[in-house]
Order: sequence, then C-alpha cells, then structure tokens
Amino acid sequence: MTSRWLDTPDRYGLVTRLLHWGMAALFAWQFAGMAVRILLGRHPLTAFMVGSHKPIGTVLMLLILLRGAWGLSQWRQRPPHPGTLVGRAATAGHALLYALMLYVPTVALLREYGSGEGFAPFGIRLFPATGQEIPWMLAPADASHGLLAWTLLALVVGHVLMVVMHHWWWRDDTLARMTGRL
Ligand code: HEM
Ligand code: HEM
Repeated sequence: MTSRWLDTPDRYGLVTRLLHWGMAALFAWQFAGMAVRILLGRHPLTAFMVGSHKPIGTVLMLLILLRGAWGLSQWRQRPPHPGTLVGRAATAGHALLYALMLYVPTVALLREYGSGEGFAPFGIRLFPATGQEIPWMLAPADASHGLLAWTLLALVVGHVLMVVMHHWWWRDDTLARMTGRL
C-alpha cells in the first residue's frame, strides 16, 4: 500500500516533508535571532527573537529525535542516492547534518541541567532548580554549542547550494521530491 504520508523511492512523503520544512523554519528562526543579537546587541528585536531560543531549541531537540526515528523507519523506501561519488557525498552530508542537529541542542540541554538553575520551557518543568552547578555538564556547550551551531549553518548553506545545482544546473527532480510536486 502506498500512502501520501510515507516515503516512496521517487518522492518524500508528507511526514518527512513536514519535518524537513518545519524544522528548517525553526532553525532559520534560531540562527536569525543569534545573527540579530550579534548585529544589534541589546535591542528589543534581539530580546524578542532570542527570548524564545531555549524553548524553540528544546522543540527542535524533540523533533530531531522524531525525525531520526522516522527516517530509519522509511530508510528502505525513501529516494535512494546513486552509488556515485556525488551520491555518496550526499548521504555523508545528510548524516553530518543529522549529527550536528543532534549534538547542538543536546549539549545545550546538558548545560541547562548542569547549571542547577532549573529549566522550564513553555512553563513545563524539565529540570529542577537544585542550586548546584555540575561543571562537566557545562563544559561541552561552553566549548562548542555556538561554534558547532554556526558549523551547522555553514553546512546548511552548502546543502542549499547543492539543491540549487540540482535544480538549475542538472535540472533533475531532487527539489521536487522534497516539495511534493512529484
Ligand atoms: C537546536 C537548535 C539550536 C541552534 C541552531 C542554536 C544555535 C545557537 C547559536 C548560533 C548561538 C550563538 C553562538 C554565538 O554567540 O556565536 C547559540 C547560543 C546559545 N544557545 Fe543555542 N541553539 C540551539 C538550541 C539551544 C538550546 C536547546 C538551548 C538551551 C536550552 C540553547 C541555549 C543557548 C545559549 C544559552 C546560548 C548562549 C551561550 C552560547 O553561545 O553557548 N540553544 N545557539
Ligand atoms: C531553503 C532551505 C532548504 C532547502 C531548499 C532544502 C532542500 C532539500 C532537498 C531538495 C532535499 C532532498 C535531497 C535528496 O533527496 O537527496 C533535502 C533533504 C534534506 N535536508 Fe534540506 N533543505 C533546506 C534546509 C535544510 C535545513 C535547514 C536542514 C537541517 C538543518 C536540512 C536537512 C536536510 C536533511 C537531513 C535531508 C535528508 C532527508 C531527511 O532526512 O530529511 N535541510 N533538503
């Protein structure tokens, strides 16, 4: 049985597409907020955008777990990449995107836990306020949350450039199978 919700070898299904574009929008919000913070510093727009950084990042953490599990469940039926060098580079590139999408919020949440200040995104208490700092839980995010987040952004720029190449240079169906026009 084929369903528009599931992936098939010639296009991504609705679930995959919703996760891909919904998460792309949330990532755009995260990066735009941090870019605004760097450009404008303390400013009402920074407060507005960065004020939601932790809760939106927590939602992204949840979504990446769902997306990974969903991707594995669709693995054998989603559009395959050819065994060529470019095809294998695409698979490796996507794997790297997944690794960074997982790492960046994971270490940030570990830091929230280790801060001992408590954490309640959208008013939902995830971590209690213990008043006790746990240094080894702060270290990974302090050293690499921002750096690897910007690395993720660089990789996304490369990802989008490759899609542009597929669409306007090679003129194939790569973009269409993620937009649902197939
Ligand atoms: C998953 C998506 C996330 C992305 C793409 C992201 C991205 C970023 C970026 C680009 C910065 C700026 C680094 C700089 O100043 O150059 C940053 C900083 C920060 N983020 Fe995130 N973040 C995410 C999730 C989270 C989560 C889940 C939390 C906490 C619950 C969090 C907490 C922070 C904090 C406290 C800072 C300022 C300190 C630092 O740079 O480490 N972020 N983030
Ligand atoms: C304007 C922005 C974007 C465009 C036009 C775009 C386009 C696409 C297209 C056409 C595919 C299918 C490629 C294929 O079948 O080989 C794809 C897959 C993928 N994209 Fe994007 N993308 C964008 C943003 C992002 C962002 C922000 C992320 C992650 C941070 C991302 C992560 C992925 C991943 C992991 C895949 C593999 C399929 C999956 O597991 O979802 N993309 N993208």
